[in-house]
Amino acid sequence: MTEKPRLSARIAAIAESATLKVDAKAKALQAEGRPVISYAAGEPDFATPDYIVEAALAATHDPKNYRYTPAAGLPELREAVAAKTLRDSGLEVSPGHVVVTNGGKQAVYQAFQTLLDPGDEVLVPAPYWTTYPEAIKLAGGRQVDVFAGAEQGYLVTVEQLEAARTDRTKVLLFVSPSNPTGALYSAEQVQAIGEWALEHDIWVVADEIYQNLTYADEADGVPPRSVSIVEAVPGLANQTILVNGVAKTYAMTGWRLGWMVGPADVIKGAANLQSHLSSNVSNISQRAAIAALNGPQDAVEEMRRAFDRRRRTIVAELSKIDGMTVPVPQGAFYVYPDVSGLLGREWGGVTPTTSLELADLILDQAEVAAVPGEAFGPSGYLRLSYALGDAPLLEGVQRLQRLFA
Ligand SMILES: Cc1ncc(COP(=O)(O)O)c(C=O)c1O
Repeated sequence: MTEKPRLSARIAAIAESATLKVDAKAKALQAEGRPVISYAAGEPDFATPDYIVEAALAATHDPKNYRYTPAAGLPELREAVAAKTLRDSGLEVSPGHVVVTNGGKQAVYQAFQTLLDPGDEVLVPAPYWTTYPEAIKLAGGRQVDVFAGAEQGYLVTVEQLEAARTDRTKVLLFVSPSNPTGALYSAEQVQAIGEWALEHDIWVVADEIYQNLTYADEADGVPPRSVSIVEAVPGLANQTILVNGVAKTYAMTGWRLGWMVGPADVIKGAANLQSHLSSNVSNISQRAAIAALNGPQDAVEEMRRAFDRRRRTIVAELSKIDGMTVPVPQGAFYVYPDVSGLLGREWGGVTPTTSLELADLILDQAEVAAVPGEAFGPSGYLRLSYALGDAPLLEGVQRLQRLFA
């Protein structure tokens, strides 16, 4: 008798999140008392600002929050998201075009579930965030990588996208600023890509979760605006899903609150899916998000400035290491050096040939955790998050400088 597989083929094919795995390993070593400095986490180290926590506390005392609420989100929050979308993405939408999700991650999942049929192709600029491949696969889609390396600032061009386009291309994934590279597309680049997508009738899933975290070239300069693809090319609005959330901007990763914004038919479909999958997001988190979006934004600016300061430190220090090429990130809170110059050389008795081996080496020998490029596409890179305190941030890179001296 042939044995039935225990897991479905669909679930057996999902990989564990590589970023969470490295972070968990670093935390386990720290728990053993080892002085590991971790650049692995994809979350701000700050506490959620007080005014947001206060709103959540008040919500816990209000019995109306103890019950099920509409699956697509509280009307007041959908309104706040619509206002934020106009403010930051330049798109006027009614609250009916918003679905509140359990983090941006659920919005990514639902976007692909809603758009893709088996065999539909999704153009994915690489390096890419680890969750996209699994979300595309689970929707039956086929991922087509479009790679942009350090020499082009990790920014794909229209020519590259066009070369990857086929009759089955349904969606372009567009992420700016990017995780893992921190790369930010200029207004002109966004417009060119948006016009190309419109011309070829390609849907866009635009992940804007880092849109409020951008940095100027000079220390006191005005940060560049992250231009939304629907602002650059308004005609795209009817074939674009915007993904966003409070996690990164407001230091609210644990509150699990994101959203998707899109055309009415797609939003209706996604809301139907969510009504069977998870129903409404916790009302307490939704009330906190209303406070976050509608309240004063000074705390956000303070955190952004801290990230910018740390970004300058880590870029300056990593650039001193011979063998690392460090494009200057303009957004998010990651730096993504090309480390191919360190591979194939001996360090402390070990000769790493891949960035996976290099990441192991620096964890073993310098007690520094970073996520290898293999988690986001090709080997040859490391992702370091600079969302950690100034002192450990400096100490960690100094350890790397000593290791690779
Ligand atoms: C590019 C990108 N999109 C979406 C998310 C999802 O964030 P969350 O589910 O915490 O809102 C993340 C989190 O790491 C991310 O890096």
